[in-house]
Amino acid sequence: MATNVEEKQGNEQPSQESRHQEVGHKSLLQSDALYQYILETSVYPREPEPMKELREITAKHPWNLMTTSADEGQFLHLLLKLISAKNTIEIGVYTGYSLLATALALPDDGKILAMDINRENYELGLPVIQKAGVAHKIDFREGPALPAKNHGAFDFAFVDADKDNYWNYHERLMHLVKAGGVIGYDNTLWNGSVVAPPDAPMRKYVRYYREYVLEFNKAIAADPRVEICQLPVGDGITLCRRVS
Ligand SMILES: C[S@@+](CC[C@H](N)C(=O)[O-])C[C@H]1O[C@@H](n2cnc3c(N)ncnc32)[C@H](O)[C@@H]1O
Repeated sequence: MATNVEEKQGNEQPSQESRHQEVGHKSLLQSDALYQYILETSVYPREPEPMKELREITAKHPWNLMTTSADEGQFLHLLLKLISAKNTIEIGVYTGYSLLATALALPDDGKILAMDINRENYELGLPVIQKAGVAHKIDFREGPALPAKNHGAFDFAFVDADKDNYWNYHERLMHLVKAGGVIGYDNTLWNGSVVAPPDAPMRKYVRYYREYVLEFNKAIAADPRVEICQLPVGDGITLCRRVS
């Protein structure tokens, strides 16, 4: 039997569903009001000023749909502090919101190897990163991340590019991230399309990568080299702790 609350939510369903279709809508929560509540109560009031500035600059960019959401930025920032990360790698920088969240969380001698095929977008955010006094922690490399020959023992990796190669990145990161280190794979709920019927209307790029995301989610859940937790933050983030 439906409770009053369920009935109420049921009545509101159509307008919420339509809001979930909006471009840039990052929440997988059932209620848009709940997502706004999180942003306004816990995220925006605690967002460091440089991250706010970069978020506002990014919002004006035509590809702003790609940016990490503010709640996910806050999550990454706290996570990096909780694990005392010092040496990290990021695949997929765009204008640098998650990169800045990371750079602000690392100690002054921390290092981030950041890779993206597009330097122009990174340069849009760079003045904010410089003003925040954290640019010295970042080693930005322009180019496709997968062929890059990296060495190191990273405490943390954030993968937010090139969804069709997530499993290839995973195999690489099993050698680059320390045992006990953490990897975050972004967009693993892929606009919620992971549960949509195959014939449901979807944007072209969502449909294209959907199969890869589904395969990746299955494979990572069966990988004994990592402990995992899939969180419905942003567009879904799968956290892995490398155990061997
Ligand atoms: C979703 S965005 C990253 C968002 C970013 N983490 C943020 O906080 O705004 C994905 C980025 O991956 C980059 N990219 C796409 N394919 C790539 C590849 N093969 N290697 C490295 N970067 C790639 C794109 O240029 C784009 O900037």
